[in-house]
This record gives sequence, structure tokens and C-alpha cells, in this order.
Amino acid sequence: PKGKEAAIYDLYQQAAKLYHHMLVNTQAGDAALNYLTGRGLGRDLIDTFNLGYAPTNELLLPYFQEKGIEYTVLRDSALFIEDDEGQLHDRFTNRVLFPIRNMAGQVVAFSGRRMANDDSPKYINSPESAIFKKSRELFNLDLAKQMIRKSKTVFLFEGYMDVLAAYTTGLPNGVASMGTSLTPEQVGILTRFAETLIIAYDDDEAGQKATARAIKLVQAHSNKLAIKVVRLAEKLDPDEYLKKYGATALQNALQHSLETPLTFMRKYLRNNYNLANEAEKLAYIEAILKVIAQSPNQIERQIQVNELATEFAIKATTLEQQLSHFEQEPQN
Ligand code: GTP
Ligand code: MN
Ligand code: MN
Ligand code: MN
Ligand code: MN
Repeated sequence: PKGKEAAIYDLYQQAAKLYHHMLVNTQAGDAALNYLTGRGLGRDLIDTFNLGYAPTNELLLPYFQEKGIEYTVLRDSALFIEDDEGQLHDRFTNRVLFPIRNMAGQVVAFSGRRMANDDSPKYINSPESAIFKKSRELFNLDLAKQMIRKSKTVFLFEGYMDVLAAYTTGLPNGVASMGTSLTPEQVGILTRFAETLIIAYDDDEAGQKATARAIKLVQAHSNKLAIKVVRLAEKLDPDEYLKKYGATALQNALQHSLETPLTFMRKYLRNNYNLANEAEKLAYIEAILKVIAQSPNQIERQIQVNELATEFAIKATTLEQQLSHFEQEPQN
């Protein structure tokens, strides 16, 4: 029912405010504030993103109970964990909190980062609720969308800290898919705002794998979104790159160290196929042709086919024939 949803939105708004207050105004928040400062985040950024701190002791439960909020609203908010006796407990304790806002700017979830390097999960996310469908949200889209429209370009990152790193270098048009793989819904949303999608995932194995997957997903769901891939170095993510090389270097990399999907996929697939083996070589060529088939124009495809033909000493006409099987019109 509408009433309960409105009540849950209200709880998240109040929770975000309270968590932020704990971070910036209380002694309990000192360690968390030091943690964020140590990671290079200034006070202005902490305020802009309304970052927070969930203290060690339960905070929200007593606060909302005091206010007389109904049990069912609290339970369905997903801000709490229900124990075996049906008793609610704050989901987030002793963590730095990133509020997740929907496109309209309403807080719909939190992601909480541990501060110590212990064996607890690095991030804990709110589960889905009446107001939070993970596959539809992108971290920071509400703040980024104006600049995305203006520049027609959106940066896609893996993590919150990467979005913040880009923001500090003067690139506010970044979003993150929040630890989950990019979804068709998210591609649809981005297609509404941007003409170019710049994938800037981590330069490690997981990030490269996710990049290959994202390229395929975008190509399958949108023929309007041009893709570019940022190539960082040394397995760094953008936030680590910023720390190591500085803001100008990160800004430069994000704007200029760009590859086409084809170049990326060729390098990526080369590491996955043993080209000395004839069967794997064929599989590799087929995989590359599938990427070439997604190129928006005929001339570009022709050039790429010729390159491939030369590289593997195969007749271009044979490759073209094969290519035509992969050239299908994607939706939208
Ligand atoms: P920092 O270490 O804080 O810079 O995080 P990161 O963004 O570099 O994390 P990483 O590259 O390891 O993972 C990318 C994204 O995956 C994070 O931003 C989170 O959204 C998500 N993620 C990472 N670790 C976990 C985890 O333990 N649990 C869950 N649910 N998500 C995680
Ligand atoms: Mn209990
Ligand atoms: Mn990563
Ligand atoms: Mn990372
Ligand atoms: Mn990181």
C-alpha cells in the first residue's frame, strides 16, 4: 500500500540524516571520519554524498521506536534484521555508510563499509525492499544525470569510492552498479541520458571480466549507446589510481586512455584462448567476429575484418560470410 511505502521513504531519509550526524558531529563518529579523511575524502564531499556512520550500538531502532513507528513498517523497511524471536536489530553497526539514492534523489538503501581490515564482508548492502530494486538503481545517477545529459557521456564504475574519485577530479558524471553486474534495466536507463558509455571498471581480473560482460550486455540491449573502455594500469581501480598518481592523472586516464570495445575484447580474449591450438583459434576468431558485428558502420566492420584476415591468413570473404550470421538488429 502507498502509505507504507511513503513511510519507508521517510525512514530512510531520517536514517541518512541521523547517520550523517553521527559521522560529522559526534565523538562516536571520529574513527569513521578519520577513516574517510584518510582515504582522501574532504568534508565537502562527505556532505555532498551525505556519507554516514552507523555506530557500534543500535541507533535506529530506539530512535524510531521512541517516535512510535509501527513494527510492520520497521520490519518491511529492511533497515533492520529480524532475529529468531521476531525482534528487530539495526542492520548496520560500526560501518561507514554510503546512502544509495534513486533517480529522484530519495534514499532507498545503504551500503556499509567495514573500517578495519577484518574478515567481515567489506561491504554490506541493504536487501531489496518495497522501495529498492537493485537491478534498477545506479549509485549517484540523481546527481550525475544533469552532467550526463550535458556531456552526453556517462562513466560506469565498479564502486562508490571510484565514483567519488572521479567526482573529485571534476568528472561528476559517474555512476556505479553497486557490486552487482550491470543489468538490462540499467542499460535502458543510461540510454535515456547518454550517447556514450565509458566503462571504467577495476584493472584487475574481476574488473576485466566484468567489462567484457558489460560490453556484451550493452551491445545486446542498446544500439544507441557507443561504448568506450578506460584502460588503467597495474590492476588498480580509479580510487587507487587517484591515490597513487593524483587527480590530474586520473582525469587524464578517464578522458583519454580509452579503447574501443573491439580493441578491449581482442586483448581480453587473447588471454582466454590458446591461439596455438587450431580449435581455440577458430573459437577466438568467432568471438571477435561477434564483437565486430556490433560495430555501428559498414566501413568500420570492413576494416576490422581485413585486419583479422591479415592477422590469421584467412580470406576476408570467408570471414565476411561468417560475420553476416552475427549481424542482427538489437532491440531499441
Ligand atoms: P574500496 O575497497 O572501499 O575502495 O571498495 P571497492 O569499490 O574498490 O571494492 P571492490 O573493487 O572490491 O568491489 C567493487 C564493488 O563491489 C564495491 O564497491 C561494492 O559495491 C561491491 N562489494 C565489494 N565487496 C563486497 C562485499 O563483501 N559484499 C558485497 N555485497 N558487495 C561488495
Ligand atoms: Mn536478539
Ligand atoms: Mn573490484
Ligand atoms: Mn575496486
Ligand atoms: Mn577501491
